[in-house]
Amino acid sequence: MILVTGGAGYIGSHTVLTLLEAGREVLVLDNFCNANKKSLDRVSALAGREIQWVEGDVRDASLLDDIFRQHDIESVIHFAGLKAVGESVQKPLAYFDNNVNGTLVLCSAMSRAGVKKIVFSSSATVYGDPESVPIRENFPTSATNPYGRSKLMVEEILQDLALSDSQWRISVLRYFNPVGAHDSGMIGEDPNGIPNNLVPFVSQVAIGRREVLSVFGNDYDTDDGTGVRDYIHVTDLAKGHLKALDYLVHHDGVHTFNLGTGKGYSVLEVVQAFEKASGRKVAHEFKPRRAGDIARCYADPEYAKEVLGWTAEFGIEKMMADTWRWQHNNPNGYGDSTSS
Ligand code: NAD
Ligand code: WQD
Repeated sequence: MILVTGGAGYIGSHTVLTLLEAGREVLVLDNFCNANKKSLDRVSALAGREIQWVEGDVRDASLLDDIFRQHDIESVIHFAGLKAVGESVQKPLAYFDNNVNGTLVLCSAMSRAGVKKIVFSSSATVYGDPESVPIRENFPTSATNPYGRSKLMVEEILQDLALSDSQWRISVLRYFNPVGAHDSGMIGEDPNGIPNNLVPFVSQVAIGRREVLSVFGNDYDTDDGTGVRDYIHVTDLAKGHLKALDYLVHHDGVHTFNLGTGKGYSVLEVVQAFEKASGRKVAHEFKPRRAGDIARCYADPEYAKEVLGWTAEFGIEKMMADTWRWQHNNPNGYGDSTSS
């Protein structure tokens, strides 16, 4: 059985569905600080299987000991954590506690239980402002905010852990910009309050929840002056987790992979693609650059292709079409949607 921490969240819910569809047994641990229980009901309906889940915190050592005692867990996919870059600047302690301490408590409990396989959610943010693109896994790392630092710290802790004990098998997945939703339109991203990220914001403008998108900067050194990112469909990302987990069956040590498409799209290209997919206009206006943003960031995804046999299948059209289906069917996310 696979323990999935944060399995009710955006990427976690899609990954749990992929795991269930592949016939794997899953136990979700989530404290629902940034998720709705409906996501698990929907995943269960889509998979045609019940989901086992526990409400609780990954920092709760005795709960984790109980979980490892009561269930036959052989590996862990660790999504649980906080992810808002701006908030991390305001609340660094909360971020280090959730993301770093949470991982320490989890790995200690795993160690006590003799479970030493883990897939960790890292981020392309660990590359800081890269000297060149596309970005390879061996590029230098750095952090520009507490969120990014928490990911980098965990990556380093996991390296030390593997050095201390060769039984550990660890996949570190550096996601680029996850977007999209399951193509049923039943599960998707449901941010609390005003979205920080581009695609959820664009999608809320299209549905009429927000008036106008602020485009942060049109004077970057890119073709149209707006920031360029590597958007990746969440279903592709979910499949990457299964590959990265299965890889650990035959490989010890730490293995770090970029999960991206290798293609970059500007903010204006995303807006255009969303307008095409939705048939709605997305009002936007140019604003100054957002602090900490970089001009361009996209992956070299070759290593994951070579080693895991994983490659992203879906392009920007499907990313936007699936985001729109989810938004259109659930205008207020999981909040008050009519289907369950
Ligand atoms: P999310 O907020 O939707 O999911 C995180 C889940 O973890 C939520 O369900 C939340 O309730 C739960 N959680 C948080 N703290 C917890 C705790 N202490 N104990 C138990 N559960 C807890 O975010 P997501 O987009 O699905 O991201 C999942 C992981 O991927 C995170 O670690 C995030 O940092 C990382 N990541 C996300 C992105 C992105 O853009 N979405 C990019 C790179 C990396
Ligand atoms: C994309 C582009 C913005 C919102 C962040 C984290 C990263 C990872 C993914 C977790 C940029 C522009 C955005 C808006 C805009 N998360 N933008 N108006 O900043 O690449 O990455 O999410 O690990 O760590 O830093 O993603 O979606 O916020 O921005 O113009 O309202 O859209 O300036 O060029 P980002 P994003």
